[in-house]
Amino acid sequence: MVDLNRFLVPWMDQVKPYGTEDLLIAWSNPELKRMMVNENPIPPSEKVLQAVFEAAKSGNRYPDNGPRIRAKIARRYDLGPENVFISHGSSEIIDMIMRLFVSPGDEVLLPNPTFSLYSIRARVVGGSVVAVDMTPDLQYDIPAMLRAVTPRIKVIIVCTPNNPTGDFISDDDLMKIVELGIPTLIDEAYLEYHPEHESKAPLIRKYNHLIVAHTFSKAYGMAGIRFGYALADEKLIDYFRKIQIPWNTSLLAMAAAEAALDEGEELERKAAYNNAGVEYICKELSKIPGVKPYYSHGNYVLIDATDTGATGQEIVDHVFQKAGVIIKYFAPLRGRKGFFRISLGTHEENSLCVHAIKKYLENRKKEKKA
Ligand SMILES: Cc1ncc(COP(=O)(O)O)c(C=O)c1O
Repeated sequence: MVDLNRFLVPWMDQVKPYGTEDLLIAWSNPELKRMMVNENPIPPSEKVLQAVFEAAKSGNRYPDNGPRIRAKIARRYDLGPENVFISHGSSEIIDMIMRLFVSPGDEVLLPNPTFSLYSIRARVVGGSVVAVDMTPDLQYDIPAMLRAVTPRIKVIIVCTPNNPTGDFISDDDLMKIVELGIPTLIDEAYLEYHPEHESKAPLIRKYNHLIVAHTFSKAYGMAGIRFGYALADEKLIDYFRKIQIPWNTSLLAMAAAEAALDEGEELERKAAYNNAGVEYICKELSKIPGVKPYYSHGNYVLIDATDTGATGQEIVDHVFQKAGVIIKYFAPLRGRKGFFRISLGTHEENSLCVHAIKKYLENRKKEKKA
């Protein structure tokens, strides 16, 4: 056997892959409630399915780079198709940004907590991560982020609304980051749930170091179909073109996305369904003493149950064992160990999850008293 370490890039042994164990468990046990990876519980519409079916008829052909869908997306932002780059989900955009700007020894600046894939993809290219804790009320700590800027920082991540904390960065704070002139990803993965908040896409006209990313995995409900896009200055898009594997966005994904773009009402329906679920979960869980849900503009709610005495891990384990609901544990923040996140499911699943948490915490309290 060859000693692979002689050939591997030296930092690769330290890279931990993105955890997909929950997905393996969920796919092989379809009776479980999947409330852990911010999926949309509503399946694709008939029109989307039909579009995929039609596109599959040309499945023997390589796709182009989607001039029609790029033009359609561009019109929504009053940009040109040359400002739109389509991808195999927005994770691919995140990965391309790291490959473009980060080499071994460089750093990526981001808030903590946030979507874990940013760090993973930075480490894959030999970069390291400067994670700046959010404020105690889980807002971007801009003074601390600005203090963390050094010449080693090659990319800054702004996720807005942030996963898992759920809030938008304020315009003033965003501009303090933008004005640094460092390549910055503005990840708007969840923006379609709240279209009353304007996209930051117009900034790309003035700032050639910004990338605004979107995905069809969330409000559009196409996580398994895989479609995302980036908006940026034409020259930056040219670099994406150099780095992306050609034909990465499948004909089926493009067709699905194009059909979904034409169904504005379907998107509104999905967003309204989700947002009602967020209200429900926040309202119900905030009635439990010691439980603090953070109101979210995405399809997830972060909860801090530290003051109940239970840890996030205990709650996640209990809900899984007693109710068959998979939710996600989050690492302690500022010494508080009670964090977990619920990804919105159907209204029935949301209710099942809320009741399982309530029951666990009530029983726990009774046991402590006894
Ligand atoms: C903030 C954020 N960006 C990007 C993604 C990746 O989405 P995609 O399915 O488009 O790769 C996610 C997925 O959870 C996310 O939370």
